[in-house]
Amino acid sequence: MVSIVPLWILFLTFLSALLLGSLPQCRAMSFYDLEAVNIDGYRVKLSAYKGKVTLVVNVASKCGLTDRTYKELVSVRESYARRGFEVLAFPCNQFHDQEPDSNADIKGFARSYNVTFPLFAKTTVKRPMCTHDPSANSLLCGPTSEECCAFNNQIYEYLMSISNKPVEWNFAKFLIGRDGGLIKRYQPVEGPRTFTREIERALASADTGDGDGDGDGDGDGDGDGDEDDMSHGSSDGGSNPTTESFSDEM
Ligand SMILES: *[C@@H]1O[C@H](CO)[C@@H](O)[C@H](O)[C@H]1NC(C)=O
Repeated sequence: MVSIVPLWILFLTFLSALLLGSLPQCRAMSFYDLEAVNIDGYRVKLSAYKGKVTLVVNVASKCGLTDRTYKELVSVRESYARRGFEVLAFPCNQFHDQEPDSNADIKGFARSYNVTFPLFAKTTVKRPMCTHDPSANSLLCGPTSEECCAFNNQIYEYLMSISNKPVEWNFAKFLIGRDGGLIKRYQPVEGPRTFTREIERALASADTGDGDGDGDGDGDGDGDGDEDDMSHGSSDGGSNPTTESFSDEM
């Protein structure tokens, strides 16, 4: 009897080691477990940004918000990069065909704004169900449109799984805390300069306390009124080459 006890202890130790070893596989997916293809075609693990505060944003070159937002992204990134802030930009052509060009062209366009933050390959940020939105996108994102049939990146699939509304338009922003939790979403018209205080707060804290990140923009809670916001945003942004971009073949 006395000699059996140590065996049981040994067995339990072995068992718990096994269970602990398998825990990471059972754990829910986190932001830092994801990976994406960058604009040069290489796979990038988001674990590379572990411990940073990141702003995930879907970008487009031909939107009324483009000029203002690119400038703000560059300047805000420059202000906070040393403290651990990074912008992760995902070009997407799902909104009014406003990112129609190739990855190489998009990269060149971003360079004209002196972008130094990571750009990812052109991707999808909307679920297929959004394609039946009665907005202008139905033309571009019909059920047969390959681009809109599924997410082709883990990032937005994940962000949509933890958020409560689809990406509204180009330049929707997700502020991610150092722990990988979603702190807050910002609407396309909300330039990053308008929430630098929240970026600073995120940089100052070691963890985000994911309980308060509801993933909702703090706006009017309209849910469906995003289209109005967008046309408003477009006119704000000065001349808008939207109509020209429609001449491109899909
Ligand atoms: C990019 O940097 C160059 C060199 O510093 C500068 O002349 C140019 O104005 C910058 N472009 C933008 C859009 O800020």
